[in-house]
Amino acid sequence: MSFSRRISSVQPSPTLALNAKAVQLAKQGHKVLNFAVGEPDYPTPKVIVDRAIESLKAGRTKYTPAGGGPELRQAISEKLERDNGLTFDPAQIVVGAGAKEILFHTFLSLINDGDEVILTTPCWVSYADQIRAAGGVPVLIPVPEHGRIPSTEEILKYASPKTKIFVFNSPNNPSGYILTENELKELGTFLAKQGWWVISDEIYEYMSFDVPHQSLLKVCPDLRPKFILVNGLSKAFAMTGWRVGYCAAPQEVATMVKSLQSHSSTCIPGFIEDAAVLALKHGQSLMAEDIAKLRHRRDTAVKLLDSLGDIKYMFPQGAYYIFVDIRDKLRDGDTSLKFSDRLLQEHYLALAPGEAFGAPGFLRLSYATDEATISEGIKRLHKALVG
Ligand SMILES: Cc1ncc(COP(=O)(O)O)c(C=O)c1O
Repeated sequence: MSFSRRISSVQPSPTLALNAKAVQLAKQGHKVLNFAVGEPDYPTPKVIVDRAIESLKAGRTKYTPAGGGPELRQAISEKLERDNGLTFDPAQIVVGAGAKEILFHTFLSLINDGDEVILTTPCWVSYADQIRAAGGVPVLIPVPEHGRIPSTEEILKYASPKTKIFVFNSPNNPSGYILTENELKELGTFLAKQGWWVISDEIYEYMSFDVPHQSLLKVCPDLRPKFILVNGLSKAFAMTGWRVGYCAAPQEVATMVKSLQSHSSTCIPGFIEDAAVLALKHGQSLMAEDIAKLRHRRDTAVKLLDSLGDIKYMFPQGAYYIFVDIRDKLRDGDTSLKFSDRLLQEHYLALAPGEAFGAPGFLRLSYATDEATISEGIKRLHKALVG
């Protein structure tokens, strides 16, 4: 039988598979501590939920315009100006069913068969498979020893005449790094010279604990002609299940992404649009308590890891993950994938394996859970790793 070559090359998400196994073990009565999830554990703020209900009751149940209604795109444009100091006309903004769909449609809009896309690892699980599905070739740069983004010299080693796109994600999933203004300037100046498209995934923007988030475009305005900013409401407002993501892009790209939306999911529901407008108008202040809670959990987790000792990790400045380096704990052909499986079967602890992020030898721990669970989980992890 002959199937699509592109789609046959796509792997199912290893983090979702792990989560399914963890859920199954919990159903069998085991006390599973699940650190594999990629969403906040706190609820969507009540004002947002109430706005959606009100809108639903008022009958906003029909199709909305493909790529987002005018009020929502205007609210996003105002948000980009207020939070990021960036001016985008609402016509340059496209809304879709989560940043995931927007990223997929952006790759589909830019990639021709064989085009290469540079990903610095560790990186979010879906980029590489979306690129393959679009006919492109993901080029993964291994994790540098310092754990942050590779130097521009290193990036250049992975470039070729086929390089078309560079994907950037800060605050980073899974390592939690946030680039400083100087680092952004150096990277941006380099990227502007290369002339590649730059996709900047800023979905963890509000979860910046130590260094304020700045968009790469704000620091390097020269990138604008080929810069695509991707963001969404999933993480910022604990709205993962609502599916609201968007991009702000040069007009030709926005038009193409919107055209694809019109032939796929078409639009997001009107009552969700109304709730999203309200969330965006409130902005980060609506989430201040939850973000402070996350920061406290980060501090608790890091303190415990340090006090137990002998576990290497990348210090997370943002998002809600800790990327633990277990390379020196793996013996004789063992892998982080196998280790993650054993952690679950023997210690009832679910941590996503580094393989899911293009970084074998690591484990990702999501600390978007209560502090008692974080403490118990880290102790179990220490026992499994160090004994
Ligand atoms: C780095 C990154 N980008 C994009 C997404 C997609 O988010 P959503 O589709 O929920 O907007 C995620 C979700 O986990 C992510 O971690």
